Amino acid sequence: MTNILIAYGTTEGQTAKIAEYIADVVRSHGFEAEAVNIKDTHDVAPDTYDGVIVGASIHLGKHEKHVVKFVEQHRDALERLPSAFFSVSLAAHGDSEEAQGYVEQLEKDTRWVPPRVALFGGALLYTHYGFVKRHIMKRIAHDKPGGLGTDTSRDYVYTEWDGVRRFVEDFLTDLASARAAGSAEPN
Ligand SMILES: Cc1cc2nc3c(=O)[nH]c(=O)nc-3n(C[C@H](O)[C@H](O)[C@H](O)COP(=O)(O)O)c2cc1C
Repeated sequence: MTNILIAYGTTEGQTAKIAEYIADVVRSHGFEAEAVNIKDTHDVAPDTYDGVIVGASIHLGKHEKHVVKFVEQHRDALERLPSAFFSVSLAAHGDSEEAQGYVEQLEKDTRWVPPRVALFGGALLYTHYGFVKRHIMKRIAHDKPGGLGTDTSRDYVYTEWDGVRRFVEDFLTDLASARAAGSAEPN
């Protein structure tokens, strides 16, 4: 049975939610899927899967270091298999140029150029942040384009779930095309 790995990094949990949603969409199409937090597992082997989606979130302009390391370590498998990358940030909600820049930096750092990339809006979880983080994030939200929320008594989620679903369905189309091309090759 076709099995898809969704390997992700998360700091406050929004990318984990997106990874689980991606796994659900994959399963709804009749395939197997495993969402794995890269930080919790050292022995995940992408080359044992039929396709890999990697995800990470942005803090202070950078994706999680352990995701960058994971991509460097497994670049061969990511290049061989149908693969995709999604980046979660506030910039993806309103400043797609900045959000795209984060991905370009990851490509430079790892020399992996994912064939499919998605930029997803993240979350402002004011009620979960400590005092200092809450106030820093309020200031950033106020200054950023895109009309981010500044009411610190509540949380804001900017992830567009329909866009996540479309990304997964496009990835599954890539997977089917790769398979069709593979089976058409002469033995
Ligand atoms: C301390 C901190 C720094 C952040 N820095 C950035 C940033 O530089 N650019 C940006 O677009 N989003 C930034 N964000 C927003 C996060 O990318 C967003 O909250 C995302 O949902 C986090 O995903 P996670 O919950 O999976 O870690 C920051 C968030 C926090 C809490």
